[in-house]
Amino acid sequence: MSAEVPAGLTDLLMGFTLEVLKQRPEDLLEFAVRYFTRLRELKSSARAPGRSPVTRGDAFDRDSTAPDSSDEEEDEDDFPEDFTFKPPPPSKCNRRVSVCAEGYNPDDDDDDGVKSMVVHHKTEEQRRRLQEACRDILLFKTLQQDQFSEVLDSMFEVLVKPHECIISQGDDGDNFYVIERGVFDIVIQKDGVSRCVGQYDNKGSFGELALMYNTPRAATIMSTQDGALWALDRATFHTLIVKMNAKKRKMYESFIESVPLLTSLQLSERMKLVDVLGMKSFKNDDQILKQGDKADCFYIVESGEVKIMIKSKTAAGRRVNEEVEISRCTAGQYFGELALVTNKPRAASVYASGETRCLVIDVQAFERLLGSCQEILKRNISHYEQQLVALFGSSDDLKHE
Ligand code: CMP
Ligand code: CMP
Repeated sequence: MSAEVPAGLTDLLMGFTLEVLKQRPEDLLEFAVRYFTRLRELKSSARAPGRSPVTRGDAFDRDSTAPDSSDEEEDEDDFPEDFTFKPPPPSKCNRRVSVCAEGYNPDDDDDDGVKSMVVHHKTEEQRRRLQEACRDILLFKTLQQDQFSEVLDSMFEVLVKPHECIISQGDDGDNFYVIERGVFDIVIQKDGVSRCVGQYDNKGSFGELALMYNTPRAATIMSTQDGALWALDRATFHTLIVKMNAKKRKMYESFIESVPLLTSLQLSERMKLVDVLGMKSFKNDDQILKQGDKADCFYIVESGEVKIMIKSKTAAGRRVNEEVEISRCTAGQYFGELALVTNKPRAASVYASGETRCLVIDVQAFERLLGSCQEILKRNISHYEQQLVALFGSSDDLKHE
Protein backbone atom coordinates (compact mmCIF):
# COMPACT_ATOMS: atom_id res chain seq x y z
CA MET A 1 0.00 0.00 0.00
CA SER A 2 1.35 3.40 -0.94
CA ALA A 3 2.03 5.72 2.00
CA GLU A 4 1.86 8.80 -0.22
CA VAL A 5 -0.37 11.54 1.18
CA PRO A 6 -2.86 12.65 -1.50
CA ALA A 7 -2.49 16.24 -2.65
CA GLY A 8 -4.68 18.60 -0.69
CA LEU A 9 -5.39 16.20 2.20
CA THR A 10 -3.15 17.98 4.70
CA ASP A 11 -4.68 21.36 3.95
CA LEU A 12 -8.18 19.97 3.99
CA LEU A 13 -7.73 18.41 7.41
CA MET A 14 -5.75 21.36 8.70
CA GLY A 15 -8.55 23.78 7.75
CA PHE A 16 -11.09 21.59 9.47
CA THR A 17 -8.93 21.11 12.57
CA LEU A 18 -8.46 24.86 12.88
CA GLU A 19 -12.18 25.48 12.73
CA VAL A 20 -12.75 22.86 15.41
CA LEU A 21 -10.16 24.46 17.65
CA LYS A 22 -11.64 27.92 17.09
CA GLN A 23 -15.29 27.03 17.52
CA ARG A 24 -15.04 24.05 19.90
CA PRO A 25 -18.30 22.47 18.71
CA GLU A 26 -20.17 20.21 21.12
CA ASP A 27 -20.90 17.63 18.47
CA LEU A 28 -17.78 17.03 16.41
CA LEU A 29 -19.40 14.70 13.93
CA GLU A 30 -22.32 17.05 13.28
CA PHE A 31 -19.87 19.93 12.84
CA ALA A 32 -17.76 17.90 10.42
CA VAL A 33 -20.79 16.98 8.33
CA ARG A 34 -21.82 20.60 8.06
CA TYR A 35 -18.31 21.87 7.40
CA PHE A 36 -17.57 19.46 4.58
CA THR A 37 -21.08 19.68 3.11
CA ARG A 38 -20.74 23.43 2.88
CA LEU A 39 -17.33 23.09 1.31
CA ARG A 40 -18.62 20.65 -1.30
CA GLU A 41 -21.55 22.95 -2.11
CA LEU A 42 -19.16 25.78 -2.74
CA LYS A 43 -16.88 23.69 -4.88
CA SER A 44 -19.73 22.42 -7.05
CA SER A 45 -21.23 25.88 -7.48
CA ALA A 46 -17.79 27.11 -8.50
CA ARG A 47 -17.71 24.45 -11.21
CA ALA A 48 -21.17 25.39 -12.53
CA PRO A 49 -21.03 27.04 -15.99
CA GLY A 50 -21.32 30.81 -16.00
CA ARG A 51 -20.38 31.11 -12.33
CA SER A 52 -17.32 32.99 -11.26
CA PRO A 53 -14.87 30.86 -9.33
CA VAL A 54 -15.68 30.58 -5.65
CA THR A 55 -13.02 31.49 -3.20
CA ARG A 56 -12.83 30.07 0.25
CA GLY A 57 -13.96 33.43 1.51
CA ASP A 58 -17.48 32.40 0.43
CA ALA A 59 -17.43 29.42 2.69
CA PHE A 60 -15.97 31.22 5.65
CA ASP A 61 -16.54 34.47 7.38
CA ARG A 62 -13.55 36.57 6.70
CA ASP A 63 -11.74 37.80 9.73
CA SER A 64 -11.58 41.60 9.65
CA THR A 65 -7.80 41.46 9.97
CA ALA A 66 -7.38 39.15 7.00
CA PRO A 67 -5.90 40.60 3.83
CA ASP A 68 -8.50 41.21 1.13
CA SER A 69 -8.07 38.77 -1.69
CA SER A 70 -11.45 39.27 -3.31
CA ASP A 71 -9.98 39.90 -6.72
CA GLU A 72 -7.57 37.02 -6.53
CA GLU A 73 -8.49 33.49 -7.40
CA GLU A 74 -7.37 31.39 -4.48
CA ASP A 75 -5.81 28.00 -4.73
CA GLU A 76 -8.57 25.54 -3.78
CA ASP A 77 -6.33 23.49 -1.53
CA ASP A 78 -4.80 26.41 0.24
CA PHE A 79 -6.88 27.11 3.35
CA PRO A 80 -6.25 30.55 4.83
CA GLU A 81 -5.98 30.47 8.59
CA ASP A 82 -7.83 33.71 9.15
CA PHE A 83 -11.25 32.45 8.21
CA THR A 84 -13.99 31.12 10.42
CA PHE A 85 -16.53 28.60 9.38
CA LYS A 86 -19.95 30.12 8.95
CA PRO A 87 -22.61 27.49 9.65
CA PRO A 88 -25.30 27.62 6.95
CA PRO A 89 -28.75 28.61 8.15
CA PRO A 90 -31.10 25.64 8.63
CA SER A 91 -33.40 25.08 5.71
CA LYS A 92 -35.55 22.29 4.31
CA CYS A 93 -32.84 21.08 1.95
CA ASN A 94 -30.27 21.29 4.69
CA ARG A 95 -32.34 19.93 7.50
CA ARG A 96 -30.27 17.11 8.96
CA VAL A 97 -28.72 19.47 11.41
CA SER A 98 -29.22 19.43 15.14
CA VAL A 99 -31.04 22.59 16.10
CA CYS A 100 -29.62 22.21 19.57
CA ALA A 101 -26.12 21.85 18.17
CA GLU A 102 -26.33 25.10 16.24
CA GLY A 103 -24.52 27.01 18.94
CA TYR A 104 -27.80 28.55 20.07
CA ASN A 105 -27.14 30.74 23.05
CA PRO A 106 -30.20 31.32 25.25
CA ASP A 107 -28.52 34.38 26.79
CA ASP A 108 -28.66 36.09 23.41
CA ASP A 109 -32.43 35.85 23.49
CA ASP A 110 -33.90 38.01 26.21
CA ASP A 111 -37.62 37.47 25.83
CA ASP A 112 -38.89 34.44 27.69
CA GLY A 113 -40.53 32.80 24.75
CA VAL A 114 -43.35 35.34 24.58
CA LYS A 115 -43.35 35.53 20.80
CA SER A 116 -46.47 35.87 18.69
CA MET A 117 -47.70 32.37 19.28
CA VAL A 118 -51.00 31.09 17.96
CA VAL A 119 -53.60 30.64 20.68
CA HIS A 120 -56.21 27.95 20.15
CA HIS A 121 -59.34 28.70 22.12
CA LYS A 122 -60.54 25.88 24.38
CA THR A 123 -63.60 25.23 26.50
CA GLU A 124 -63.15 24.77 30.26
CA GLU A 125 -63.65 21.06 29.80
CA GLN A 126 -61.05 20.82 27.02
CA ARG A 127 -58.58 22.81 29.06
CA ARG A 128 -59.07 20.47 32.02
CA ARG A 129 -58.51 17.38 29.85
CA LEU A 130 -55.45 18.97 28.24
CA GLN A 131 -53.97 19.91 31.60
CA GLU A 132 -54.43 16.35 32.86
CA ALA A 133 -52.81 14.88 29.71
CA CYS A 134 -49.81 17.22 30.05
CA ARG A 135 -49.33 16.78 33.81
CA ASP A 136 -46.60 14.13 33.50
CA ILE A 137 -45.03 15.11 30.19
CA LEU A 138 -41.30 15.16 30.90
CA LEU A 139 -40.45 17.79 28.30
CA PHE A 140 -42.77 20.23 30.05
CA LYS A 141 -41.37 19.54 33.53
CA THR A 142 -38.60 22.09 33.28
CA LEU A 143 -40.84 24.91 31.98
CA GLN A 144 -41.82 27.76 34.23
CA GLN A 145 -45.52 28.16 35.01
CA ASP A 146 -46.08 31.00 32.49
CA GLN A 147 -44.26 29.08 29.75
CA PHE A 148 -46.33 25.99 30.52
CA SER A 149 -49.51 28.10 30.21
CA GLU A 150 -48.36 29.37 26.82
CA VAL A 151 -47.78 25.80 25.68
CA LEU A 152 -51.31 24.85 26.78
CA ASP A 153 -52.76 27.89 24.97
CA SER A 154 -51.01 26.89 21.75
CA MET A 155 -52.06 23.24 21.73
CA PHE A 156 -54.95 21.98 19.66
CA GLU A 157 -57.00 18.81 19.82
CA VAL A 158 -56.59 16.04 17.22
CA LEU A 159 -59.09 13.17 17.24
CA VAL A 160 -57.89 9.95 15.66
CA LYS A 161 -59.53 6.84 14.22
CA PRO A 162 -58.06 3.32 14.38
CA HIS A 163 -55.13 2.63 12.02
CA GLU A 164 -54.46 6.26 11.30
CA CYS A 165 -50.87 7.21 10.56
CA ILE A 166 -50.14 10.18 12.81
CA ILE A 167 -46.47 10.43 11.89
CA SER A 168 -44.76 8.85 8.93
CA GLN A 169 -41.07 7.92 9.15
CA GLY A 170 -38.97 10.10 6.86
CA ASP A 171 -41.42 13.02 6.75
CA ASP A 172 -40.60 16.53 7.89
CA GLY A 173 -41.71 17.30 11.45
CA ASP A 174 -44.79 19.48 11.88
CA ASN A 175 -46.19 18.91 15.38
CA PHE A 176 -45.28 17.46 18.74
CA TYR A 177 -48.07 15.29 20.22
CA VAL A 178 -49.26 14.57 23.76
CA ILE A 179 -51.54 11.57 24.23
CA GLU A 180 -54.83 12.09 26.03
CA ARG A 181 -56.17 8.60 25.23
CA GLY A 182 -55.52 5.79 22.80
CA VAL A 183 -52.89 3.18 22.05
CA PHE A 184 -50.27 3.97 19.41
CA ASP A 185 -47.72 1.64 17.80
CA ILE A 186 -44.16 2.81 17.19
CA VAL A 187 -42.94 1.30 13.92
CA ILE A 188 -39.42 1.62 12.54
CA GLN A 189 -38.45 0.63 9.04
CA LYS A 190 -34.86 -0.47 8.59
CA ASP A 191 -33.31 -2.19 5.58
CA GLY A 192 -36.78 -2.48 4.06
CA VAL A 193 -38.20 -4.30 7.09
CA SER A 194 -40.79 -2.64 9.35
CA ARG A 195 -40.78 -3.59 13.02
CA CYS A 196 -43.02 -2.47 15.86
CA VAL A 197 -40.48 -1.40 18.51
CA GLY A 198 -42.90 -0.25 21.18
CA GLN A 199 -46.26 1.19 22.07
CA TYR A 200 -47.70 4.22 23.84
CA ASP A 201 -50.56 3.11 26.08
CA ASN A 202 -52.91 5.98 26.90
CA LYS A 203 -50.13 8.30 28.04
CA GLY A 204 -46.89 9.92 27.00
CA SER A 205 -45.83 12.04 24.06
CA PHE A 206 -44.06 11.67 20.74
CA GLY A 207 -42.76 13.61 17.76
CA GLU A 208 -40.12 15.67 19.58
CA LEU A 209 -37.04 14.40 17.74
CA ALA A 210 -37.68 15.83 14.28
CA LEU A 211 -38.50 19.21 15.83
CA MET A 212 -35.54 19.28 18.20
CA TYR A 213 -32.88 18.18 15.75
CA ASN A 214 -34.39 19.28 12.45
CA THR A 215 -34.24 15.70 11.17
CA PRO A 216 -36.79 13.58 9.30
CA ARG A 217 -39.27 11.66 11.45
CA ALA A 218 -37.40 8.72 13.02
CA ALA A 219 -40.40 6.40 13.32
CA THR A 220 -43.98 5.89 12.17
CA ILE A 221 -46.70 6.33 14.79
CA MET A 222 -49.99 4.50 14.11
CA SER A 223 -53.18 4.54 16.15
CA THR A 224 -54.59 1.11 17.01
CA GLN A 225 -57.98 2.42 18.20
CA ASP A 226 -59.98 5.65 18.59
CA GLY A 227 -57.91 8.21 20.41
CA ALA A 228 -57.35 11.84 21.25
CA LEU A 229 -54.11 13.79 20.97
CA TRP A 230 -53.05 17.33 21.73
CA ALA A 231 -50.68 18.85 19.17
CA LEU A 232 -48.14 21.63 19.60
CA ASP A 233 -46.97 23.26 16.37
CA ARG A 234 -43.32 23.29 15.34
CA ALA A 235 -42.79 27.03 15.81
CA THR A 236 -44.11 27.12 19.38
CA PHE A 237 -42.23 23.94 20.24
CA HIS A 238 -39.10 25.57 18.95
CA THR A 239 -39.59 28.85 20.77
CA LEU A 240 -40.29 27.24 24.13
CA ILE A 241 -38.83 23.75 24.28
CA VAL A 242 -35.68 24.04 22.18
CA LYS A 243 -34.83 27.26 23.96
CA MET A 244 -35.33 25.49 27.27
CA ASN A 245 -33.07 22.68 26.09
CA ALA A 246 -30.18 25.06 25.58
CA LYS A 247 -30.59 26.14 29.20
CA LYS A 248 -31.02 22.53 30.36
CA ARG A 249 -27.75 21.58 28.67
CA LYS A 250 -25.96 24.31 30.56
CA MET A 251 -27.64 23.37 33.84
CA TYR A 252 -27.12 19.61 33.70
CA GLU A 253 -23.94 19.23 31.65
CA SER A 254 -21.54 18.84 34.56
CA PHE A 255 -23.94 16.76 36.66
CA ILE A 256 -24.62 14.33 33.81
CA GLU A 257 -20.87 14.00 33.25
CA SER A 258 -20.47 12.93 36.86
CA VAL A 259 -22.99 10.07 36.63
CA PRO A 260 -20.88 6.89 36.52
CA LEU A 261 -23.46 4.96 34.46
CA LEU A 262 -23.26 7.48 31.63
CA THR A 263 -19.49 7.71 31.24
CA SER A 264 -19.51 5.29 28.30
CA LEU A 265 -21.78 7.65 26.33
CA GLN A 266 -20.36 10.23 23.97
CA LEU A 267 -20.89 13.87 24.83
CA SER A 268 -23.49 14.29 22.08
CA GLU A 269 -25.40 11.27 23.41
CA ARG A 270 -25.33 12.65 26.95
CA MET A 271 -26.66 15.97 25.65
CA LYS A 272 -29.48 14.20 23.80
CA LEU A 273 -30.38 12.58 27.09
CA VAL A 274 -30.46 16.00 28.75
CA ASP A 275 -32.73 17.30 25.96
CA VAL A 276 -35.47 14.81 26.75
CA LEU A 277 -35.19 14.40 30.51
CA GLY A 278 -37.60 15.85 33.00
CA MET A 279 -37.00 16.84 36.60
CA LYS A 280 -39.23 15.84 39.54
CA SER A 281 -39.00 16.98 43.16
CA PHE A 282 -40.15 14.89 46.10
CA LYS A 283 -40.69 15.56 49.80
CA ASN A 284 -39.64 13.30 52.62
CA ASP A 285 -41.43 9.91 52.44
CA ASP A 286 -43.13 10.60 49.08
CA GLN A 287 -43.56 7.35 47.20
CA ILE A 288 -41.73 7.58 43.88
CA LEU A 289 -42.30 4.01 42.66
CA LYS A 290 -44.66 1.30 43.88
CA GLN A 291 -43.71 -2.36 43.82
CA GLY A 292 -45.89 -4.23 41.31
CA ASP A 293 -46.77 -1.14 39.19
CA LYS A 294 -46.29 -1.01 35.45
CA ALA A 295 -43.07 0.83 34.56
CA ASP A 296 -42.53 3.67 32.11
CA CYS A 297 -39.62 5.73 33.46
CA PHE A 298 -36.03 5.55 34.63
CA TYR A 299 -34.64 7.80 37.41
CA ILE A 300 -31.29 9.35 38.32
CA VAL A 301 -31.00 10.97 41.75
CA GLU A 302 -29.90 14.56 41.26
CA SER A 303 -29.88 15.56 44.93
CA GLY A 304 -31.07 14.03 48.19
CA GLU A 305 -31.58 10.33 48.76
CA VAL A 306 -34.08 7.54 48.09
CA LYS A 307 -34.88 4.33 49.98
CA ILE A 308 -35.50 1.09 48.11
CA MET A 309 -38.06 -0.99 50.02
CA ILE A 310 -39.28 -4.46 49.18
CA LYS A 311 -42.14 -6.69 50.33
CA SER A 312 -40.77 -10.16 50.09
CA LYS A 313 -42.58 -13.47 49.93
CA THR A 314 -42.68 -16.21 52.54
CA ALA A 315 -41.38 -19.67 51.72
CA ALA A 316 -45.02 -20.54 50.85
CA GLY A 317 -44.96 -17.81 48.20
CA ARG A 318 -47.27 -15.39 50.07
CA ARG A 319 -46.29 -11.73 50.09
CA VAL A 320 -45.39 -10.38 53.54
CA ASN A 321 -46.99 -7.00 54.08
CA GLU A 322 -44.16 -5.29 55.84
CA GLU A 323 -41.63 -3.54 53.60
CA VAL A 324 -37.95 -4.03 54.28
CA GLU A 325 -35.36 -1.45 53.32
CA ILE A 326 -32.82 -3.04 51.03
CA SER A 327 -30.70 -0.14 49.90
CA ARG A 328 -30.41 3.60 49.25
CA CYS A 329 -29.42 5.70 46.25
CA THR A 330 -27.80 9.11 46.50
CA ALA A 331 -26.83 11.80 43.95
CA GLY A 332 -25.52 10.30 40.70
CA GLN A 333 -27.05 6.89 41.33
CA TYR A 334 -30.02 5.50 39.44
CA PHE A 335 -33.08 3.30 39.97
CA GLY A 336 -36.12 2.08 38.05
CA GLU A 337 -34.12 0.42 35.28
CA LEU A 338 -34.92 -3.17 36.28
CA ALA A 339 -38.55 -3.21 35.16
CA LEU A 340 -37.60 -1.53 31.87
CA VAL A 341 -34.84 -4.04 31.16
CA THR A 342 -36.82 -7.13 32.23
CA ASN A 343 -40.21 -5.87 30.99
CA LYS A 344 -41.76 -6.75 34.35
CA PRO A 345 -43.57 -4.72 37.04
CA ARG A 346 -41.55 -2.69 39.53
CA ALA A 347 -39.58 -5.10 41.74
CA ALA A 348 -39.45 -2.70 44.71
CA SER A 349 -41.00 0.48 46.05
CA VAL A 350 -38.92 3.64 46.20
CA TYR A 351 -39.40 6.53 48.68
CA ALA A 352 -37.75 9.91 49.04
CA SER A 353 -35.68 10.29 52.17
CA GLY A 354 -35.79 14.03 52.78
CA GLU A 355 -36.13 16.58 49.98
CA THR A 356 -35.07 14.82 46.80
CA ARG A 357 -34.77 15.76 43.14
CA CYS A 358 -34.62 13.19 40.37
CA LEU A 359 -33.98 13.39 36.67
CA VAL A 360 -36.55 11.28 34.84
CA ILE A 361 -36.19 9.62 31.43
CA ASP A 362 -39.07 7.84 29.70
CA VAL A 363 -38.83 4.25 28.50
CA GLN A 364 -38.55 5.21 24.82
CA ALA A 365 -35.60 7.52 25.45
CA PHE A 366 -34.10 4.97 27.85
CA GLU A 367 -34.14 2.32 25.13
CA ARG A 368 -33.01 4.67 22.39
CA LEU A 369 -30.19 6.39 24.24
CA LEU A 370 -28.96 3.99 26.91
CA GLY A 371 -28.45 0.92 24.73
CA SER A 372 -24.70 1.06 25.22
CA CYS A 373 -25.12 1.09 29.02
CA GLN A 374 -26.99 -2.22 29.06
CA GLU A 375 -23.93 -4.20 30.16
CA ILE A 376 -23.44 -2.04 33.24
CA LEU A 377 -27.16 -2.17 34.02
CA LYS A 378 -27.21 -5.95 33.74
CA ARG A 379 -24.16 -6.29 35.97
CA ASN A 380 -25.97 -4.33 38.65
CA ILE A 381 -29.08 -6.47 38.30
CA SER A 382 -27.11 -9.56 39.26
CA HIS A 383 -25.97 -7.59 42.28
CA TYR A 384 -29.66 -7.10 43.25
CA GLU A 385 -30.18 -10.85 43.12
CA GLN A 386 -27.28 -11.41 45.50
CA GLN A 387 -28.70 -8.71 47.78
CA LEU A 388 -32.10 -10.43 47.92
CA VAL A 389 -30.60 -13.86 48.47
CA ALA A 390 -28.59 -12.45 51.38
CA LEU A 391 -31.71 -10.85 52.90
CA PHE A 392 -34.50 -13.31 52.15
CA GLY A 393 -32.74 -16.47 51.09
CA SER A 394 -34.05 -16.17 47.50
CA SER A 395 -34.33 -13.68 44.66
CA ASP A 396 -37.64 -15.02 43.35
CA ASP A 397 -39.20 -11.56 43.33
CA LEU A 398 -36.88 -10.55 40.53
CA LYS A 399 -37.42 -13.73 38.59
CA HIS A 400 -41.10 -14.55 38.83
CA GLU A 401 -43.06 -11.31 39.11
P1 CMP B 1 -39.90 12.05 15.65
O1 CMP B 1 -38.71 11.49 15.02
O2 CMP B 1 -40.17 13.49 15.56
O3 CMP B 1 -41.18 11.25 15.09
C1 CMP B 1 -41.32 9.89 15.43
C2 CMP B 1 -41.29 9.77 16.94
O4 CMP B 1 -41.37 8.46 17.46
C3 CMP B 1 -39.97 10.28 17.49
O5 CMP B 1 -39.88 11.65 17.23
C4 CMP B 1 -40.10 9.85 18.93
O6 CMP B 1 -40.88 10.77 19.66
C5 CMP B 1 -40.90 8.55 18.80
N1 CMP B 1 -40.11 7.34 19.10
C6 CMP B 1 -40.45 6.41 20.01
N2 CMP B 1 -39.57 5.42 20.03
C7 CMP B 1 -38.62 5.72 19.11
C8 CMP B 1 -37.42 5.07 18.70
N3 CMP B 1 -37.02 3.91 19.21
N4 CMP B 1 -36.68 5.69 17.76
C9 CMP B 1 -37.08 6.84 17.22
N5 CMP B 1 -38.21 7.50 17.58
C10 CMP B 1 -38.97 6.94 18.52
P1 CMP C 1 -37.52 -1.35 39.13
O1 CMP C 1 -37.89 -2.76 39.40
O2 CMP C 1 -37.85 -0.79 37.84
O3 CMP C 1 -38.16 -0.45 40.28
C1 CMP C 1 -37.67 -0.58 41.61
C2 CMP C 1 -36.18 -0.37 41.59
O4 CMP C 1 -35.47 -0.54 42.80
C3 CMP C 1 -35.52 -1.37 40.68
O5 CMP C 1 -35.95 -1.17 39.35
C4 CMP C 1 -34.07 -1.12 40.97
O6 CMP C 1 -33.61 0.01 40.27
C5 CMP C 1 -34.10 -0.74 42.46
N1 CMP C 1 -33.45 -1.77 43.30
C6 CMP C 1 -32.37 -1.57 44.06
N2 CMP C 1 -32.03 -2.70 44.70
C7 CMP C 1 -32.90 -3.65 44.32
C8 CMP C 1 -33.05 -5.02 44.63
N3 CMP C 1 -32.23 -5.67 45.46
N4 CMP C 1 -34.06 -5.67 44.04
C9 CMP C 1 -34.89 -5.04 43.21
N5 CMP C 1 -34.81 -3.75 42.89
C10 CMP C 1 -33.81 -3.04 43.43
